[in-house]
Amino acid sequence: MRIDVISIFPDYLAPLELSLLGKARQEGLVDVQIHNLRDFAFDRHKTVDDTPYGGGAGMVMKAEPWGLALDRVLAQSPVLQSSAGADQPQDDAAAASARAEGEKPLLIVPSPAGTVFNQQLAYELAQEEHIAFAPARYEGIDERVLDWSEESFRVMPVSIGDYVLYGGEVAVMVMLEAIIRLIPGAMGNPESLAEESHTGGLLEYPVYTKPAQWRGREVPEILLSGNHGAIARWRRDEQIKRTFSRRYDMIASASDEMWDKKDRKL
Ligand code: ADE
Repeated sequence: MRIDVISIFPDYLAPLELSLLGKARQEGLVDVQIHNLRDFAFDRHKTVDDTPYGGGAGMVMKAEPWGLALDRVLAQSPVLQSSAGADQPQDDAAAASARAEGEKPLLIVPSPAGTVFNQQLAYELAQEEHIAFAPARYEGIDERVLDWSEESFRVMPVSIGDYVLYGGEVAVMVMLEAIIRLIPGAMGNPESLAEESHTGGLLEYPVYTKPAQWRGREVPEILLSGNHGAIARWRRDEQIKRTFSRRYDMIASASDEMWDKKDRKL
């Protein structure tokens, strides 16, 4: 999988070198390229923003550097290299618009006004061959960049939640962690995926490790029993109780098939 991030603060993405994310990159499971937007601004001050037409507060990110940065990303896209000539800049609008949607890379524009990110979307995005991220700063990117991008990308504005950040870089980090860990081979223990919160429609059960007693608190006895059937039942009950009290919205929207016959009516 190929991932490109275009940002005026590439250092925000530095943690991508660490931990399992860094390992997934080193092992070639994912090719992440970070581009500095200022490298595509050619005036003396490398200007990437300007005042908004129509007036109003704040600054707007200029179209020209974004256009050039996105041209670079398209020229390196594995999706387009299989359907067009390798390393050709993809700025031919007619050719681009003739491209079938499925042949276009995905462009994610983090925005509090986007579709809300969740585990289901993370699973879908983990199947993509090429995703580019365009995190904005200031009041956002000149809207014409997004219009133009539709010719060559599938453009998806995505929010990580109902709150406003200074900019989209942290949102990109959140999405990348959720996506990359779903790529086969990128998880320390892939079995963890099957049982975690938001996979089976319930939150994860509580977990414990040694010592069996700590500050007057004991590990639930059933977990020491060795009875795997009873442990599985207890864990499922805990998942249901926890989801009921913390996220009733997930219970309310669950389909009938989610419940097994032995789930107690709580
Ligand atoms: N940029 C600013 N706030 C954001 C949010 N909540 N999600 C994604 N991108 C953002």
